[in-house]
Amino acid sequence: MKNSFSVAAMTSVFLRCLDPKCGTRYPVREVRSECACGNLLDVHYEWSDFDAAAAKQTWAFRALSRDPRDRSGVWRFREMIPFLPPDARVITLQEGNTPLLDAPRAADYAGLDFLAFKHQGFNPTGSFKDNGMTTGVSQAAALGKNVVACVSTGNTSASMAAYAARGGLRAVLFIPAGQIASAKLAQALEYGALTIQVEANFDVTWKLVFQLVEEMGLYLLNSVNPFRVEGQKTIMIELMEQLGWEPPDWIVLPAGNLGNSAAFGKGLREMQQLGLIARLPRLALIQAEGAAPLVRLLRRAAAEGRNPREIGLEPVESPQTLATAIRIGAPASWKKALRELEATRGVCETVSEQEIADAKAVIGLSGIGCEPASAATLAGIRKLIAQNVIGKSDRVVAVLTGNLLKDPSYTLSYHEGTLSLAREGPFDSAQGKQPPLVIEPRFGNRPIAVPPDPERIRRLLARRPSF
Ligand code: F0G
Repeated sequence: MKNSFSVAAMTSVFLRCLDPKCGTRYPVREVRSECACGNLLDVHYEWSDFDAAAAKQTWAFRALSRDPRDRSGVWRFREMIPFLPPDARVITLQEGNTPLLDAPRAADYAGLDFLAFKHQGFNPTGSFKDNGMTTGVSQAAALGKNVVACVSTGNTSASMAAYAARGGLRAVLFIPAGQIASAKLAQALEYGALTIQVEANFDVTWKLVFQLVEEMGLYLLNSVNPFRVEGQKTIMIELMEQLGWEPPDWIVLPAGNLGNSAAFGKGLREMQQLGLIARLPRLALIQAEGAAPLVRLLRRAAAEGRNPREIGLEPVESPQTLATAIRIGAPASWKKALRELEATRGVCETVSEQEIADAKAVIGLSGIGCEPASAATLAGIRKLIAQNVIGKSDRVVAVLTGNLLKDPSYTLSYHEGTLSLAREGPFDSAQGKQPPLVIEPRFGNRPIAVPPDPERIRRLLARRPSF
């Protein structure tokens, strides 16, 4: 018997170890962040009689419905994420439903004929984390958990705090003190989360908290939680729907803890498996130069002709980037990301601080705007085009992960010409500490102060004939 929308017959679902050699299965109601062998877990489905045409029609039809689940750009695709019991509460803020915006000016800057941005900054708390939090927090509630926790560079914490508040759960956040954008901290406080600032960077804080969660009875909602990944994979489903189920050549995204890279690849593979799309686009993951452990691993593996899994990820000890969202030296989901890079013939590249800053300003000049980490996409595309990895006429979609207003101090400093990165790098005895890396405001736009004098304003505008 097919369900009421005739999309699929009964689906079996379980947690499964990401390592095919292990493949241990656990029930979805079992609370665990890792397999007994230490690897991360996937939510795995066995769909039977999935009808791709009926699914597309059903999802399109639901876009007109007023049911809160249909209003969500995540739960609208619920046949792709069927892990909750049928009577479970769905905790939603009508996340997803984010626009796909063409951006000729940004395309021109990168050297592409066509470029579109899938802008996850249009989400309720301003980042793609909302897609994963609606599923993660709903699962926490279904498991009867009252307290959820995460370690975050800012967006995960803002999002988790909002969804926990929405669902009546308590939220505990661990954030690296002084290393997250102030707007993200402000969100977390406003949504009422218990906010603990640890005097350490993200990686040290993560190690510390990962050991403590179980003993403290906290339900961990970092992207190692496989139910978060399920929500984030719907970003790809919504994107394919917006593209008429015709995949682009490339999907480009910033890479930090690598949860999103894992989610996008899984979503794409499942859509191909179910006949929703005919082929897989290639993923391009972009890391900041000062926080690029995955790129470093892949380069080493290529140079030594070895499988990267054999080498293992070597953490970047003191990751540095002004794109604080992706300031991560030991990404938890690196093995999942590797699997998706292999499945999609993907690539991984780094970009400099100057390249990120300029790309961000160009995205702003397209009337779109984003936070610094998101701009790594455009900078990465430009670099990959220069290397002939991406072709000028390839169809490219870049995913902007966070809203422009997430990090106003970065934006103001850039336009005022004061943006710089204090380098905590190797100590040079001749020169002392390394000087800060100063970002040149190549697309800077300084505010101009004037007295309340009409003549001065007239003269000022006359000097700028382009206005
Ligand atoms: N872009 C933004 C705006 C982010 O906040 C993050 C991650 C990423 C990209 C990278 O995604 O970690 O899945 O590879 N932010 C996390 C946080 C780490 O705590 O908010 P990823």
